[in-house]
Amino acid sequence: MDYLATNDIQDVVENDREHIWHHLTQHKPLETNDPRIMVEGKGMRVWDQKGKEHIDAVSGGVWTVNVGYGRERIADAVRDQLVKLNYFAQSAGSIPGSIFAEMLLDKMPGLKRVYYSNSGSEANEKVFKMVRQISHNKHGGKKSKILFRHRDYHGTTIACLSAGGQEERNAQYGPYTPGFVEVPHCLEYRNQFDTDEDYGTACVKATEEVILREGPDTIGLLCLEPITAGGGVIVPPKGYWEGIQGLCIKYDILLHIDEVVCGLGRTGTWFGYQHFGIKPDFVTMAKGVASGYAAISCTVTTEAVFEMFKDNASDPMSYFRDISTFGGCTAGPAAAIENMKIIEEENLLENCTKMGEYCLGLLNELKSKHNVIGEVRGKGLFLGVELVKDRDTKEPVEEKMVQAVVGDCMANGVIIGATNRSVPGFNNTLCLSPALICTKDDLDKIVAAIDAALTRVFA
Ligand SMILES: Cc1ncc(COP(=O)(O)O)c(C=O)c1O
Repeated sequence: MDYLATNDIQDVVENDREHIWHHLTQHKPLETNDPRIMVEGKGMRVWDQKGKEHIDAVSGGVWTVNVGYGRERIADAVRDQLVKLNYFAQSAGSIPGSIFAEMLLDKMPGLKRVYYSNSGSEANEKVFKMVRQISHNKHGGKKSKILFRHRDYHGTTIACLSAGGQEERNAQYGPYTPGFVEVPHCLEYRNQFDTDEDYGTACVKATEEVILREGPDTIGLLCLEPITAGGGVIVPPKGYWEGIQGLCIKYDILLHIDEVVCGLGRTGTWFGYQHFGIKPDFVTMAKGVASGYAAISCTVTTEAVFEMFKDNASDPMSYFRDISTFGGCTAGPAAAIENMKIIEEENLLENCTKMGEYCLGLLNELKSKHNVIGEVRGKGLFLGVELVKDRDTKEPVEEKMVQAVVGDCMANGVIIGATNRSVPGFNNTLCLSPALICTKDDLDKIVAAIDAALTRVFA
């Protein structure tokens, strides 16, 4: 359907200015500047209202469109499913829901059950609710606390913000939900410990100190991103995950890995945790599950957790009494099935690994040219470039300079991202997460735009 047949594009812009409240946006400048409207996408590229072409190096802005734009087979599958049955509440099953669950769990040995909902935040909230209910039903109210890590993000709702380790995201939205406790971040470049031991060991020790301070019998869950996304693209140090898994076993704490960003191939494996040999009790995912062709998120858990919600069938309060209305939309799993098939048929995990290494190489070359680059890091097509005023002191560059780099790339037809409204004073990391279909040529163009922007902004 061509909406513009009845609407001039300038009307669309004016309507947007009048009526739309954009996420994460200060609207004052939009009183005089036109809001950007994205009109079309194909592969790695998007076109705006002026017909200007952009290479999208952030998969729809927030690490989502993993298989790229304009995938007709996903659209066809969704259309066919909608005509057949668009919706039924999740008290009943659906054909695509059942098929996708089997496909998904096939990639996740050790995990057995999928609960569908619509956003990463919602998927994480389900875990928090499950843990609280386990606390009530199995531990007499103990083990209700939820640990999260500084610099991690788990979503936008008040409970998810309560599990949020980014002070600027959280500020002004309190009071928060009680029972959430922070553990230290694991960004070695910003080593916060004064010790001779290796950084992974120090992080694990610091986490254990929090567990002991709070009391292990008060803690039910440790919730972590496998690789921190918006908090600075942080790949945990060597030894970290083994130590964290050990703590969870030692203190009987369930381990929740938030794969909302890393899930479905972003880092070159199906899930980020699979790089590290972790055995999670919960895994949540959203963005790349259907690459934004439909809204879907999944809360995945073990049979052992699932059993706890059905072993007392005579108690009407003992099962998981949660409702997600739109978790019953069939478009999500229908799109997710095709999305997963595309990743498999086009070998996109392999491409992600190869292109990720290629891009990391290009970014390291940039580092030898621009002193403002303090560190380049990441895994697969999930990369960060931390900008500093001085490599010795590691003083972060000002956020407005980081935004100037992003703006310069945008003006030159390349969309990159940057950490923003996260950790105060540390919104200084450029973020790259191109679609898993990207080529060397795309990456050359993206990195050339960053090179030119760094030269102009820090001249
Ligand atoms: C790691 C992580 N978890 C959860 C979320 C929340 O997902 P959603 O915006 O779909 O609620 C995000 C969003 O960026 C995220 O980065």
